[in-house]
Amino acid sequence: MKVSVIGAGYVGLISGACLAELGHDIILVDVDKEKIATINTGKNLPIYEEGLEELLSRVHIKTSSDYAEAASADVFLICVGTTADESGAIFSRHLVTATGQIAAAVKDRQDYYVVAVKSTVSPGTTEEVVIPILEKAGKKAGVDFGVCMTPEFLTEGRGIYNFMNPNRIIIGEYDKRSGDVLERLHRGLDAPVLRTGLSTAEMIKLASNAFLATKISYINEIGNICKRLGIDTYDVARGMGLDDRIGQKFLNAGIGFGGSCLPKDLKILISSAQKADYQPDLLQSVTDLNEAQALKPVELLEKHISLKGATVGILGLSFKPGTDDIRDSRAIRIVRVLLDEGAAVKAYDPLALGKFLELFPEVKAATAEEVVDSDAVLILTEWAEFDKLDYRGRIVIDGRRIEKAREARIYEGVCW
Ligand code: UDX
Ligand code: UDX
Repeated sequence: MKVSVIGAGYVGLISGACLAELGHDIILVDVDKEKIATINTGKNLPIYEEGLEELLSRVHIKTSSDYAEAASADVFLICVGTTADESGAIFSRHLVTATGQIAAAVKDRQDYYVVAVKSTVSPGTTEEVVIPILEKAGKKAGVDFGVCMTPEFLTEGRGIYNFMNPNRIIIGEYDKRSGDVLERLHRGLDAPVLRTGLSTAEMIKLASNAFLATKISYINEIGNICKRLGIDTYDVARGMGLDDRIGQKFLNAGIGFGGSCLPKDLKILISSAQKADYQPDLLQSVTDLNEAQALKPVELLEKHISLKGATVGILGLSFKPGTDDIRDSRAIRIVRVLLDEGAAVKAYDPLALGKFLELFPEVKAATAEEVVDSDAVLILTEWAEFDKLDYRGRIVIDGRRIEKAREARIYEGVCW
């Protein structure tokens, strides 16, 4: 099939490359010409993702910044960024622009095509925002074109694996004909396909990520209690996870969740609930606990040293290991507080240091060994290499459970 993937960010780039691997004819469209130029070189891609350079060199993908070149697709897959503001109101500005550009590009077409939203949106968006824009020029959904909403479940660092080996494929469809086209698009992937209405698909994405977030805040709350009682939360989590109704995954206690999805998706869900006149107290608590959890390392550190004039070393800046992504990373909150309190900060991260220094030029870049050689060390991302450092004689506050760090002179885990 001919597929125009709109938006060459994390989701669009991976989805486009994987759909090409499945044999589809892909054109990747992005308004950012510089990004397109970088992707065309195949090197120093805008995002780091394991296996992506290799995959892009193997499959053939066309790229463009011009929607006219993408106009003849069987399927338009919208992957532009969506963000939520503090109130949770989702910014669908990019979605609106991209949909408008698709509508303009296809206005003279007489044949059938499907527009599918992959970007995460609040329930009702495809029906209430996307379809009216596509119908503006006199075309009719379900007659002249089809509409679907097919959420992504890609975890950064494992995006290609997740796309090629999904747990499930969710296809929200305007009508059966649209859904049949999307099901054909995914042919070759071995996973259960669930076909639903458009809003249900939008909600499945939000409810899934909110559940993962809840699991993390839950174990962090248990961890905060365990720390006071002198119990090792990781032993508790192991014991809980052996119950296959609970499972071991997403029970790593620590400084909480960041990234481009979990915090944002919670905000969107809370705001959608409030708009529907329902106050989601559980989800609000999950968010509040996660906010408070971010600052636990600083609270613990202040028990041992005075921040003013101290040099604090930070190990780990990305929101999780395996990625250079610092969106909503815990390190951002923590470093801001440390600097405000008058500490100097040295930092190391195997991939994210460059991006982090753009945000915080006052932070000193260092090697992992130099970082450990500070008045105190905070571990904020569980990169495997941190388990090989020499922490003897140091003060370490561990936000992510690095076993080797326990050898420090003073060691504190946030939840253990
Ligand atoms: C985004 C959303 O944030 C996520 O919630 C959703 O599920 C998928 O899309 P991501 O791919 O990480 O995730 O976003 P981002 O890296 O910001 O990429 C979006 C791309 O769209 C950017 O390259 C941007 O230049 C491009 N874009 C944006 C367009 O091509 N056209 C526009 O009108 C706006
Ligand atoms: C998430 C979802 O997993 C994915 O399905 C979705 O589509 C996009 O959002 P991602 O943001 O890449 O993926 O990261 P994820 O692995 O879910 O981790 C999110 C955050 O939770 C990280 O900051 C991580 O450190 C934290 N986390 C995760 C914990 O604190 N404890 C855990 O047990 C697991």
